[in-house]
Amino acid sequence: MARLETYIVEHEQRFLDDLKAWLRIPSISTLPNHAEDVIHAAGYAADQMKHIGLEKVAVLQTQGHPLVYGEWLKANDKPTLLIYGHYDVQPVDPIDLWETPPFEPSVRNGNIYARGAADDKGQVMVIFKALEALMTVNGALPINVKVLLEGEEEAGGESIEHYVKTYPERLGCDAAFICDTHMPAKDMPALTYGLRGIIYTEVEVEGAERDLHSGTYGGIAPNPLHALAIIISRLKDAEGHIHIPGLSDKLRKPTEAEKEFWRNDPLHINEALLKEMGVTQFSGEEEYPPLERIWARPTLEVHGIVGGFIGEGAKTVIPAVAKAKISLRLPPDLKSSEAYTLFEKAVKEVVPAGVKVTVRDLHGGEGVLVLPDTPPMKAAAAALEEVYSKPPVFLREGGSIPIAALFDEVLDVPVVLMGFGLPDDNLHAPNEKYSLDQFYKGIRTVASFLQRMA
Ligand code: BES
Ligand code: MN
Ligand code: MN
Repeated sequence: MARLETYIVEHEQRFLDDLKAWLRIPSISTLPNHAEDVIHAAGYAADQMKHIGLEKVAVLQTQGHPLVYGEWLKANDKPTLLIYGHYDVQPVDPIDLWETPPFEPSVRNGNIYARGAADDKGQVMVIFKALEALMTVNGALPINVKVLLEGEEEAGGESIEHYVKTYPERLGCDAAFICDTHMPAKDMPALTYGLRGIIYTEVEVEGAERDLHSGTYGGIAPNPLHALAIIISRLKDAEGHIHIPGLSDKLRKPTEAEKEFWRNDPLHINEALLKEMGVTQFSGEEEYPPLERIWARPTLEVHGIVGGFIGEGAKTVIPAVAKAKISLRLPPDLKSSEAYTLFEKAVKEVVPAGVKVTVRDLHGGEGVLVLPDTPPMKAAAAALEEVYSKPPVFLREGGSIPIAALFDEVLDVPVVLMGFGLPDDNLHAPNEKYSLDQFYKGIRTVASFLQRMA
């Protein structure tokens, strides 16, 4: 143990340098003009795995961005842990709001700032360095591992879904470990036991065959932008209630303990949430506690609307088309395919006369609830307690990691969701960061977790 600690302390700087080098590669999966960067970032991950001493390291081609795989299976009868992370990142806009450029990692007041610092390269580097430390110090890993990284998590994750469904036997394991979540505060270690699913859609509204003069035709012409506004407001009203018939029929009932936790909020997460958002009150369904709203209720959010004129000055035009990006978050048991069907039907039912609407399913993923008391969860909890001197709290998360449900369902093994991000990491936003404290504690925790799995 002492030797492991010495190794981590002695190599602190290089661990950080390796992370920085990876963060310099702009592996934005959703933008086609970054496809080369995504491949480059996959290669970097493969090199890290080789350096650790993993075997069968390979960049696996897919229909989309590559997967990166590596394994070490020489721990005989010890358990096998499948480890997942993603090396792709979100786009950087609005770029003007970054204090330092997103792909020039910069260390300030104990954090490393860069796109992907917390989501998810920093967390994958935690795994790499825990593996490297264990392997170098002991000449072996305490358990068998299979590491599988994807490069399109932020763009829907279709390739990994296909891979897991096609080759479940290659991923045979006793447990899966996903390092892509956070904890409520630095001094509050946490394990995630629930995630929401998602459907991400595009709604396109077409009116006249071309843009029209709003004086000549105003009063008789359909306005796609206004039609879109009507559709959106009918789908979710001012009180935050979603009007999609059937959507809430299948929600799994929370336990009494969960309901009490959400109502009483003993960890004062509500207060922290308001602070993080910089607002003074919560929006949404008043009859549910805020924690239930983010963890166990469906949501409908509009991400962007385009159409018509939005330049400087004024232009009197009735646009021919308008488009919106709309997603739904789905509590466990509400299947994404069913939710999409219900959503499409609900949209079609509220379309104002005179416009044509097309709904598109861009991507989806399932939510999941995992058992908090499996042996791997207990090993993770003990590792967190060792490093943070405090037992972890068990929380749900409102975001989505579709692979978690897939591992749960297809591989049918316990899934551990343990991550070292913090709520103020600015995921998907300008000035994304990862706490260096969390980075190094994460390395120690993951090393301890693997040892305890043995
Ligand atoms: N790491 C996040 C999920 C997450 C967010 C976990 C916040 C914990 C806290 C993941 O990379 C992500 O952004 N997922 C997408 C899902 C998607 C694009 C299918 C999400 O939740 O929007
Ligand atoms: Mn992520
Ligand atoms: Mn993300």
